[in-house]
Amino acid sequence: MSVGDQSVSDLLSSVLPKGYTADEFQRPLVTLTFAQSLDGKIAGKGGKQLILSGKESMLMTHWMRSMHDAILVGIGTVLNDDPQLNTRHIPEDDQPYHLPRPVILDTNLRLKRYCKLLKNYRERIGRRPWVICGANSTPDYAERKSALEDSGARVIAVPSEDGGSCLIMIPDLLKVLYNLGIRTLMVEGGATIIGSFLAESARTKPNAIINTLIVTIAPVLIGDDGVGYGEKLSTAQIPTLKHIRTEVMGRDVVVFSALE
Ligand SMILES: NC(=O)c1ccc[n+]([C@@H]2O[C@H](COP(=O)([O-])OP(=O)(O)OC[C@H]3O[C@@H](n4cnc5c(N)ncnc54)[C@H](OP(=O)(O)O)[C@@H]3O)[C@@H](O)[C@H]2O)c1
Repeated sequence: MSVGDQSVSDLLSSVLPKGYTADEFQRPLVTLTFAQSLDGKIAGKGGKQLILSGKESMLMTHWMRSMHDAILVGIGTVLNDDPQLNTRHIPEDDQPYHLPRPVILDTNLRLKRYCKLLKNYRERIGRRPWVICGANSTPDYAERKSALEDSGARVIAVPSEDGGSCLIMIPDLLKVLYNLGIRTLMVEGGATIIGSFLAESARTKPNAIINTLIVTIAPVLIGDDGVGYGEKLSTAQIPTLKHIRTEVMGRDVVVFSALE
């Protein structure tokens, strides 16, 4: 697939930061990406999963996955959508391609043993998922951890500063992933994760922790009962964007920005 006279992988290479520069920051380079409707929704009523991307922008997303060391989603997305986070839309002719590591932010180890990510790993068609949890403060933590490990997950604890079981701190998470060899991280959502990464980027301005924001806008309207993102963020929690380029892909528009 090409956009103008450029292939999609060339286009992505031109907008994504180079992995080797991660050492400068001592953290993975982060691409935040998701698809939204014209009225800014990423899911339907009650979180119903929507296929917002058309086939061209979906293919671009799969190319983008192949260009990152890991893909991160929140446990809300895994429980709701049961995603595979692989690169299956890339045509076989373009193989071999890199299969990214799935990473799930799952504070209290709510991941189900029979989710597709673990099933694909057991069937040797997916990489071993890393499940990032908080402090081991829940009574059944040890039991959940060993059940998930028996099912194939690697469980990694990133305790919060107060030792409680509140959300995982993004800077601590990035430090742990960097130490485990992840240099490029694609963050795919959902709503709460997008809000956390945007807020953390505003807080760390002018060295925002998101390097590139890539948003696919689909020509559909969802309505007020759909799920938006960043709705609880104040103006001070919104990072500053620097436009890189905008491309039409099939019926969608894809906006590429860098963050300051
Ligand atoms: N359109 C798109 O591109 C797209 C992509 C992905 C998902 N989605 C949609 O997004 C929806 C799911 O969003 P969601 O908000 O329910 O779930 P989410 O953002 O996928 O996951 C949020 C959960 O992750 C855990 N977490 C741990 N540390 C966190 C941190 N620092 N920041 C944020 N979360 C952290 C928390 O789990 P605990 O509560 O257990 O602590 C939190 O509740 C679904 O409807 C899905 O279809 C859309």
